[in-house]
Amino acid sequence: TNDEWKGLEKTYAMIKPDAVAAGKVDDILKIAEDAGFVVVRRQEQRMDAVRAGEFYAEHKGKPFYANLVGFMSSGPIVACCLAKHNAIKDWRALMGPTNTFTAREDAPKSLRAKFGTDGTRNATHGSDSPASAMRELKFFFPNLRLDPIPEGAAAREY
Ligand code: TYD
Ligand code: MG
Repeated sequence: TNDEWKGLEKTYAMIKPDAVAAGKVDDILKIAEDAGFVVVRRQEQRMDAVRAGEFYAEHKGKPFYANLVGFMSSGPIVACCLAKHNAIKDWRALMGPTNTFTAREDAPKSLRAKFGTDGTRNATHGSDSPASAMRELKFFFPNLRLDPIPEGAAAREY
């Protein structure tokens, strides 16, 4: 019912090129829905290196930056807005640790353990704070409202 959608927080989630190429988008979003997330937006697109670099600007200058930008512009991604109570933290928890190998050790049921490839190609992204979520949702969905989804609103149109 619509009541379940009262005051839902939004986060930016992204399925990265390794998982898209492996055909895992529907599997990942099914796991998200089963965990209580509403898929508010879902849009496949390609990022060129400039746009990938802009998205990951906070990591500019780090040793993995070039690899990261190369990977993120290597094929299509699926950009998503997910909504849930505590969506930001809960999506990060569902993804598991950044490094796929660490995820397989410490959180074998996590998305990165199941669908990731290595330390850079780790299948999914999730915003790490409310400020990041706002920035990242705006980056991919400039027309999306950023406030929580109120009671009675249809999440997919909100
Ligand atoms: P980071 O923001 O630290 O991780 P998270 O995605 O969990 O928020 O890093 C962004 C991405 O950069 C990460 O998903 C994969 C890549 N990366 C590397 O390739 N090597 C590294 O050592 C780190 C820390 C990240
Ligand atoms: Mg991060």
